[in-house]
Amino acid sequence: MIKTSWTPASWQQKPIQQVPDYADKAALEAVEARLATYPPLVFAGEARKLKKGLAAVSRGEAFLLQGGDCAESFLEHHPDNIRDFFRVFLQMAVVLTFAGQMPVVKVGRIAGQFAKPRSAPMEKIGDVELPSYRGDNINGIEFTPEARNPDPRRIEDSYRQSAATLNLLRAFAQGGYANLEHVHQWMLGFVKDSPQGHHYQEIADRISESMAFMRACGIDPETAPSLRSTDFFTSHEALLLGYEQAMTRVDSTTGDWYATSGHMLWIGDRTRQPDHAHVEYMRGVKNPIGLKCGPSLTGDGLIELIDLLNPENEPGRLTLICRFGANKVFDHLPQLIRAVEREGRSVVWSCDPMHGNTIKAVTGYKTRPFDLILKEVKSFFEVHAGEGTFPGGIHIEMTGKNVTECTGGARAITDEDLSDRYHTHCDPRLNADQSLELAFLVAELLKTSRVGHQKQAVASGF
Ligand code: PEP
Ligand code: CO
Repeated sequence: MIKTSWTPASWQQKPIQQVPDYADKAALEAVEARLATYPPLVFAGEARKLKKGLAAVSRGEAFLLQGGDCAESFLEHHPDNIRDFFRVFLQMAVVLTFAGQMPVVKVGRIAGQFAKPRSAPMEKIGDVELPSYRGDNINGIEFTPEARNPDPRRIEDSYRQSAATLNLLRAFAQGGYANLEHVHQWMLGFVKDSPQGHHYQEIADRISESMAFMRACGIDPETAPSLRSTDFFTSHEALLLGYEQAMTRVDSTTGDWYATSGHMLWIGDRTRQPDHAHVEYMRGVKNPIGLKCGPSLTGDGLIELIDLLNPENEPGRLTLICRFGANKVFDHLPQLIRAVEREGRSVVWSCDPMHGNTIKAVTGYKTRPFDLILKEVKSFFEVHAGEGTFPGGIHIEMTGKNVTECTGGARAITDEDLSDRYHTHCDPRLNADQSLELAFLVAELLKTSRVGHQKQAVASGF
């Protein structure tokens, strides 16, 4: 494939999937022109820091935790939601760090995760057919012609919501909330009495004990910044390319182009055609990027994409987010790993156990059974153990709220329970309890895989 020169606008010359049909093109252009003059949401230096963390993951020295809403919404933009998400996320990270004994690279699906790819451009209810909902930055979820009409003003609203969300997250991460001395206070009321709550309490007690010991030795949060703050990064699917283009800026220290709408951007499973617009845009920005890998991706297809997206084989640049479905991991993952290993490419392998496991419950709700989510994660670890590669991370849809969207888990949410608190704007998310339960299970798998790796290293003389 001949590569032509890249600009933030070169994607416009390529075929494109999943674009909204804006009636008022002039209004769209006016919004994009304004956005191009607005402050960036993130800095290039932060994106480079994340890339370094992901490079450590690619070497098997750290683990990636990526998660958040399927789709952020204007309606749920509330400080309590951001706080509750952040604390469950911190709890999961603590469990993985402590029980899994690994540094954790923390990346939220947040502060920009609005646009959604859809399987059909139109939605039909009864005799009425309207454009599908594509995310709050594009149109409204209500089933009316007015709401479903793509409105460019929503893009600007999503930019401002992302800025406000990111501001609070930065304050939480750096301003004292993430201090390990608060490890007990991150517990959410409704999780306290669950099995996960008790399990977490035990870990929190042991961390507090270790902190007291370290303080006695002269190491405390005042002297050791990594105990009182944490690095938290943002990510979203780079679907709405007009917005991404407007937020693409030259980094003054390196002269390179960076997407400044989030630290890490990914390409969805429906928009990863090598000669199409989304791959074209993503190949030119220097951020760490993700690529969703679904069942239709072949080993050769993957190498073609890696050639385009990471031609210099830079560690930490590319995370492969695998989402096959619990019963398809063994059919698809080994061939992708073998192609990558054969070609000597550096990647982070991450497991998205959500998007291949969506089903319709008998009650009509779109749901995901917790045991299938677990099964996909376990199979992911098993395949990597067999291939001698490192299962680098998980990518999940989750919330800090006590929702009932995925069935199962220790509290055994049933099909009938789904209607109680089903709030998602798109796909079903793990609730706080289920998220924590998953973290404990992944920590166990991680500990085993780490021991396996050490044994292999010893056997091969390292
Ligand atoms: C998503 O991550 O919300 C999504 C739509 O995923 P995929 O592209 O893997 O289907
Ligand atoms: Co989703």
